[in-house]
Amino acid sequence: MSTDSELIVGLDIGTTKIAAVVGEVSDHGIDIIGLGTHPSHGLRKGVVVNIDTTVNAIHAAVEEAEQMAGCEVNTVFAGISGGHIQALNTRAVTAVKEREVRPSDVARVMETARNTCLLPMDREIVHVLPTEYVVDHQDGVKEPVGMSGGRLEARVHIVTAASTSSQNIIKCCQRCDLVVAAVVLEPLASTLACLDDAEQELGAVLIDIGGGTTDIVIVQDRSVVFTTVVPLGGNNFTNDLAVGLRTPMGEAERLKQRFGCALVDMVDPQEEVQVPAVGGRRPQVISRQILGEILEPRAEELFTLVGEAIERAGIPEENLASGAVITGGASAMGGMVEMAEMVLGMPVRVGLPRNVGGLAEVVRSPRYSTGVGLVRYGAENVEGLPLGDPEPDGRGLWGSIKRMFGRAF
Ligand SMILES: Nc1ncnc2c1ncn2[C@@H]1O[C@H](COP(=O)(O)OP(=O)(O)OP(=O)(O)O)[C@@H](O)[C@H]1O
Ligand SMILES: [Mg+2]
Repeated sequence: MSTDSELIVGLDIGTTKIAAVVGEVSDHGIDIIGLGTHPSHGLRKGVVVNIDTTVNAIHAAVEEAEQMAGCEVNTVFAGISGGHIQALNTRAVTAVKEREVRPSDVARVMETARNTCLLPMDREIVHVLPTEYVVDHQDGVKEPVGMSGGRLEARVHIVTAASTSSQNIIKCCQRCDLVVAAVVLEPLASTLACLDDAEQELGAVLIDIGGGTTDIVIVQDRSVVFTTVVPLGGNNFTNDLAVGLRTPMGEAERLKQRFGCALVDMVDPQEEVQVPAVGGRRPQVISRQILGEILEPRAEELFTLVGEAIERAGIPEENLASGAVITGGASAMGGMVEMAEMVLGMPVRVGLPRNVGGLAEVVRSPRYSTGVGLVRYGAENVEGLPLGDPEPDGRGLWGSIKRMFGRAF
């Protein structure tokens, strides 16, 4: 490894799998050098409900990633999601002391914005994301530092979570001897992994359809302006098949992944599939269209709920010019793009992790969008913070993050 590269690890704690992604970050970009995954059974709808099971799964995923990357992982950027996630848009104002905006003015106005958000004891702030700044009367400012003016206003999107959920994630990591550098909203990470430049600029809806939840983030003018979580995901499709076909969950999962389609009309009516039965009964042979008939209403329900959420956001259609990007494991099912386009009435594509090198092919699946995005979030935020300038004596947070990785940089 060259001396001017750093290791950043994303830990996606999902409902169906834990994924640890190791990225080597340098001036040339991000190279993926390790991936470890393990089935996850300790979460329900994106929230940790069994610490021991989750700890074991994190342990296994991180160990596998360490072996592939040939490094020791000590610090992670961990993902958070679930129905407890809430968000709001607010603003804060500060006086610019020297008549020219300094980084300290920006820090102060962001701190004021954070403090305007009065939260009950059981909730905490995950992100304070600037959407734009206003310097005197000039709005739409993305980078206010250096501008002349006497008044600085920040318009921000604040994401909050149930404190217990966030603490349980940190606790699970600590039990694996991992330091959590930051807890990061999972669909925010997915936007960083999947959206291209034009989508970020023109505005797009990112829909991360995981196993337990569907997370929605709207990006406009390169900023997050809306966040919500719909408590439906790929597991609901599997459940519907298991119940509808009276087949074990494992078989339903296999059938869904191999033959599932969210639109009946896309399936060849001649095609047949064998369905193993429960309770020692004989397997049955059914038309593949029957799978579609079970899956289609669920997909329609899912995208209808997504559509209602987008409507609630109240964003004019022209500000979502790029349409929607679906990602997460369940976006891989046949017919999902077509169903989403039909229900949402906008162009839709599947989003895969983009713009990474190294083992890019290994993570080229919508399942790894969050994991790769967590690495990108880590890379951008470690560099973007005031601690981005490594102090020569290795002190400060940057130094401690390096030490936490336990490697010679
Ligand atoms: N080819 C496929 N066809 C249909 N569904 C699929 C396919 N591949 C994966 N899935 C589904 O994707 C889901 C898992 O996706 P993902 O790994 O993104 O979820 P997760 O991150 O573990 O969960 P969450 O984000 O909800 O906490 C499962 O329900 C799985 O059945
Ligand atoms: Mg997920």
